[in-house]
Amino acid sequence: MQNIEWSKLPFGYFKTDYNVRCFYRNGQWGEIEVSSSEIINIHMAATCLHYGQEAFEGMKAYRGKDERIRFFRWEDNAKRLQDSAEGIMMAKPPLDLFHKMITKAVRLNEKYVPPYGHGASLYIRPLLVGTGAQVGVNPAKEYMLLIFVTPVGPYFKEGFNPVSIQIAGDYDRAAPQGTGNIKVGGNYAGSLQPTERAKAEGYAAVLFLDAKENKYIDEAGPANFFGIKNNTYITPESTSILPSITNKSIMQLAKDEGMTVEQRKVPVEELETFEEIGACGTAAIITPIRKITDRKTGKTYEFCKDGKAGPVSTKLYKKLQDIQYGEETDKHGWITFVE
Ligand code: PLP
Ligand code: COI
Repeated sequence: MQNIEWSKLPFGYFKTDYNVRCFYRNGQWGEIEVSSSEIINIHMAATCLHYGQEAFEGMKAYRGKDERIRFFRWEDNAKRLQDSAEGIMMAKPPLDLFHKMITKAVRLNEKYVPPYGHGASLYIRPLLVGTGAQVGVNPAKEYMLLIFVTPVGPYFKEGFNPVSIQIAGDYDRAAPQGTGNIKVGGNYAGSLQPTERAKAEGYAAVLFLDAKENKYIDEAGPANFFGIKNNTYITPESTSILPSITNKSIMQLAKDEGMTVEQRKVPVEELETFEEIGACGTAAIITPIRKITDRKTGKTYEFCKDGKAGPVSTKLYKKLQDIQYGEETDKHGWITFVE
């Protein structure tokens, strides 16, 4: 294995030794298979290629100071994959199969779990695809669940340093009654054009507004949105955003800190009133936002005037990471050891 500079890892693909696969055929899931190939062999008429029968998950394994490896709320990821499967008519992987597969994938690649103290972790990417052939628009009869892992650093190169975000205004991520609330590839395909444009214009990501009225904040391309004011944590409620497990955890941590938590519609103009804002997710962790520009109107909202993350975001970030890396008591039962 080549020497890895753990503290410089980007969020990207890094080859590990094994992935694990399980196939659904004749109405049932088969045995877990281990592969050292990065290639999958599928039928050219597979529904994942033609009709978007594809869903994925994103979760992490963390190595603590004690060397033990931890999953954070794996069952929530497993359940969300089941919701995604149901949403686009795919076979639902049972929770215990999911757990066995992520455990196997991590254990087989244990040397790639970053050591404690580098702000890095092992990203776990479960992928569920329709592999059965169809030409008419129908769900497949066969599926593959594949889990690969890759060591990663923070999603945004800024890490915990504040980023700039752009409201595109002329693109929607997902339809109000569509697939925005499940983790399917099509949602991300739809975000590529505005995201690449935003990056070229100097922004880290796009903030999408609700697709119906274009009035309320939905979420960022790869993460949920939150704002903080008057000791209150506020995060959008919408039918077209992904229910983020990180966001759900931060809401609990905010309550533990004595803050009020509001999950409700957040009009864009409310940005004027926040003391701190940020994006949150497995990959993004908590990423503070220093500037949001509305591309259509040119209006800009600025935060973190001293260039640093605000005190509340910093406190919540630390609490979350301390639980994930085993530095803080896991009083909500979010941690499972990989054993
Ligand atoms: N929103 C979108 C669109 C995402 O892709 C993700 C990442 O999974 C999130 C939010 C954050 O969700 P979670 O905290 O469960 O990773
Ligand atoms: C995650 O946070 O796990 C994600 O899946 C976000 C992104 C890489 C799509």
